[in-house]
Amino acid sequence: MIISAFILATCLQHGAVATAEIHATQASDAILKEEGGNAIDAAITASFALAVTYPTAGNIGGGGFMLYREPEGLAWFLDFREVAPAAGHPEMYLDENGELIEESSTLGWKAVGVPGSVFGMWEAHKLWGSLPWESLLEPAIELAASGFPISEAEHRRLTRLAKTLGKDPYAFRSFYNKDGSAKDEGSLLIQPELAVTLRRIAKQGVSAFRKGPIVKGIVETSQKGGGVLAEEDFIQYRPEFRPVQKVRWRDLTILAATAPSSSGLFLSQTLGMLSDFPLASWGWEDPRTVQVLGEVEARAFAIRNRWMGDPIGCDFGVAALSHPTFIKSLGSGISPNRFTRPRSTNYPAPWESKETTHYSIVDSRGAAVSVTTTLNSGYGAKVMAPGGFLMNNEMDDFATRPGYANQFGLIQGKYNQVIPGRRPLSSMSPIIVVRDGQVDSVIGSPGGPTILTTVLQVFLNRYVFRMTPKQSVAAPRFHRQDLPATLKYEAGRLTSKVISRLRSLGQPLKKIRKLGNVDAVFRVNETEWIPVTDPRW
Ligand code: DON
Repeated sequence: MIISAFILATCLQHGAVATAEIHATQASDAILKEEGGNAIDAAITASFALAVTYPTAGNIGGGGFMLYREPEGLAWFLDFREVAPAAGHPEMYLDENGELIEESSTLGWKAVGVPGSVFGMWEAHKLWGSLPWESLLEPAIELAASGFPISEAEHRRLTRLAKTLGKDPYAFRSFYNKDGSAKDEGSLLIQPELAVTLRRIAKQGVSAFRKGPIVKGIVETSQKGGGVLAEEDFIQYRPEFRPVQKVRWRDLTILAATAPSSSGLFLSQTLGMLSDFPLASWGWEDPRTVQVLGEVEARAFAIRNRWMGDPIGCDFGVAALSHPTFIKSLGSGISPNRFTRPRSTNYPAPWESKETTHYSIVDSRGAAVSVTTTLNSGYGAKVMAPGGFLMNNEMDDFATRPGYANQFGLIQGKYNQVIPGRRPLSSMSPIIVVRDGQVDSVIGSPGGPTILTTVLQVFLNRYVFRMTPKQSVAAPRFHRQDLPATLKYEAGRLTSKVISRLRSLGQPLKKIRKLGNVDAVFRVNETEWIPVTDPRW
């Protein structure tokens, strides 16, 4: 009680920040309080701190998306997602019979895309940062060099992965005891190699990640481990500015990411289809709400998976897919009383990961930053560079074998094939909601494809079902995607009456433990913000 009163009180003065990890939140919050510190500065500090204290998803060996709205209202989407290495190609994960080589796109160096996080943070700082770059990395360096206590959740995750992550010699050195057990809960996690890497990035800026010992270490280890990364890949990498998709809902504008994120398209299609239905008067719990929401989610996923990918690779305008006429036809036939059966039922059950991370920041000027960043799976490809940081397995987000499911069960198409220099399609969905010219909320989540439905449902909770900020995030959620047709739900989302009704329509259902891990900031009045972290974690 005392703690939350304190958080709220400090928010009044300097803005608000929500991340998935307490040390990163504190470091970022301290930057917001510093004279001249702004939301971008706080984001850079959060990003590097998470790379130290939340190694399952925080990263310098991965990539992500940043949405930024300046205090005056201009909005930007900075894409620092991984790209396929120059030596990548569409068949790189297939054997001579065209079969997928098991785990080749998820485990080990071959699964690693060229990481973009350091480039993205550098670009953001160059354009919008206020405090010196070096000072923004100091908290991360300190956390790596002096250590921080290993949480119960971190210990559990490391224990679970002892057989994969623990096999990598550098990761073993960082996270495991000599006997192979995960470092103890409560003991200090000190990462000296990572501290050296961060010091180099602090001193030399982005050039430390273009060439020199950090890159050499990555490339040599990759080559030894069967990967295809080359020094040239790091020289060629460019973060990209993409259009911001503006999705209208009543008196609100949602600022969202465009391709290679599917977020903007998904939100414009789902909200467009939903606008024909009286959700607010049906209510959150009503079976019609759940049924219609499930249907629009499934239809938007079908379009995403078939048509989307890196915007350079698409031979059509993705904007056409969010045109009202198209959305009307996409939503035709949706009924609260009918379940639309998918085309195929022969479907492999995907393994699911809950890692990736999102942070939301607002500063005292009203500038907002919404960042989702990832190594893809938890701890990425389970390989570490000699510099003490983990590498992503983002290559699995490509359609490694078009027509077949990836680790999230997404069957994707030809626009999302592995082509050198291209980015894989993403579900990451950082959003900023604007009302009357002012930021009203900043929202995002991890969860693979469930990110899209999580963010949509938090938005609806707040702005359609009129929940408080905390309720909007805490309320149980559900997820449907094109295939499999199963609607997955958290305990408490569906009453037994709703379950019977959905079953009678033919809707397959499955109860699951958790969906998403939202970190959001909401406006509560003219001057007051509330950071909300997900009570699920
Ligand atoms: O970009 C994407 O869509 C995925 N790489 C995100 C992965 C993810 O969220 C993993 N788990 N929570």
